[in-house]
Amino acid sequence: MNKAQEIRPAEGKLGVLLPGLGAIATTYIAGIFAMRKGLGEPIGSFTQMSKIRLGKRTEKRNPNVKDFVPLASTDDIVFGGWDVYEDNTYEAALNAEVLEKTLLDQLKDDMEAVKPMKAVFDENFVQFLDGKNIKEASNKMELAEALMEDIKRFKEENNCERLVMVWTGSTEKYVEPTAVHKTMEAFEEGLRNNDESISPSLIYAYAAMKMGVPYANGAPNLTCDAPCIVDYATKNSIPIAGKDLKTGQTLMKTILGPGFKTRNIGIAGWFSTNILGNRDGKVLDHPDNFKTKEVSKLSVLESILEPEQYPSLYKDLYHKVRINYYPPHGDAKEGWDNIDIFGWLGYKMQVKVNFLCKDSILAAPLLLDISLLMDLAQRANMGGIQEWLSFFFKSPQTAEGLTPIHDIFLQKVKLENTLRHMMGEDLITHLGLDYYE
Ligand SMILES: NC(=O)c1ccc[n+]([C@@H]2O[C@H](COP(=O)([O-])OP(=O)(O)OC[C@H]3O[C@@H](n4cnc5c(N)ncnc54)[C@H](O)[C@@H]3O)[C@@H](O)[C@H]2O)c1
Repeated sequence: MNKAQEIRPAEGKLGVLLPGLGAIATTYIAGIFAMRKGLGEPIGSFTQMSKIRLGKRTEKRNPNVKDFVPLASTDDIVFGGWDVYEDNTYEAALNAEVLEKTLLDQLKDDMEAVKPMKAVFDENFVQFLDGKNIKEASNKMELAEALMEDIKRFKEENNCERLVMVWTGSTEKYVEPTAVHKTMEAFEEGLRNNDESISPSLIYAYAAMKMGVPYANGAPNLTCDAPCIVDYATKNSIPIAGKDLKTGQTLMKTILGPGFKTRNIGIAGWFSTNILGNRDGKVLDHPDNFKTKEVSKLSVLESILEPEQYPSLYKDLYHKVRINYYPPHGDAKEGWDNIDIFGWLGYKMQVKVNFLCKDSILAAPLLLDISLLMDLAQRANMGGIQEWLSFFFKSPQTAEGLTPIHDIFLQKVKLENTLRHMMGEDLITHLGLDYYE
């Protein structure tokens, strides 16, 4: 057995700060309040539902993850957040139309109490939003300082021991990292000079870093993967993780892709299209914002299939992803995948997937897991990029030069082995003779 890592206990309240109180954030918040009242179960959550095998199979040690590692209790979570709209989370959840009004009405008092703080917002990064709950300041540094004040005040007023921040705001337009994102000095200079390539989500990430708060990114835009934030998080031992929650179509892709690869089935083409009608769909209807999402969605297959190593099976794969805004569907997204595969002697076959999914229902448990595991990482002094949390993300953030792991099953092994390592248990590789004992 290894030596267990030192982990500070999860005492007191954990503040979960969410920039962006829209569909996924309010579905998460409502879910936690519903569970406290015994009105629902945390289905889809790794930390709440999974068991983890320890030692040899013959030992029959399979505790619940939440009993194995010292996680904060869901009863100790306090929610806070920012949004460009003034709606409290009860109103925002009604607007999002994910959860039924009959359920939300039972949670009304708790949800009305979670009101958005004024947002840092810039319409150059997200179009189609006209909310007025926005901070004003003469430069971006002042906006960052105002966020730091919010964080401090929230922590005191809610008597929180610890905080984590998870970006649940809209997908911002695509930004390539430039010189201003490179070092903290350049970034701070950029904040003072209102540099146009510093987006709001980066300002939140900067504020979180300065307050020592772990930051995860639930969307695909550039935030905690900017080099200056990575560097600061590493040097100051603050956990960061991203990006873009692995739900919906990409979840299916990372389940099916490794399956075909494992059987050495070739893939000639993978065409994916989505229709959705929520606010996220509206934002993604703009080409600048879609570009950010497209980059995140396209990278998945390449990494799973490794065409450079398997050229005859995957070199010519034609991969196309489309997202279309279609209001009648609301949050009930519909995804179609047409997969052209080939087998023995190159004979062609097809797989069609029609996934009628509820994105926010799939996203909410991931937000809970990310919140709790980022807090765990902080208490275990694990700073910088938390690659072991790749399981939850569409574009897992890794150290520079490393290829991300997209295969959901490998991601799960990595996640579980990290927890075993933290707790001083033997890693399980499924390779040794022990496996058969
Ligand atoms: N739904 C999913 O399963 C899923 C999966 C992966 C990623 N995401 C990403 O998560 C994010 C949220 O998705 P959603 O469905 O909840 O969208 P949504 O439009 O319902 O919510 C986003 C909220 O963010 C707010 N916002 C935008 N910019 C802000 C800012 N600068 N500060 C504070 N608030 C801001 C908006 O006003 C809106 O209320 C999107 O970026 C989406 O792409 C969602």
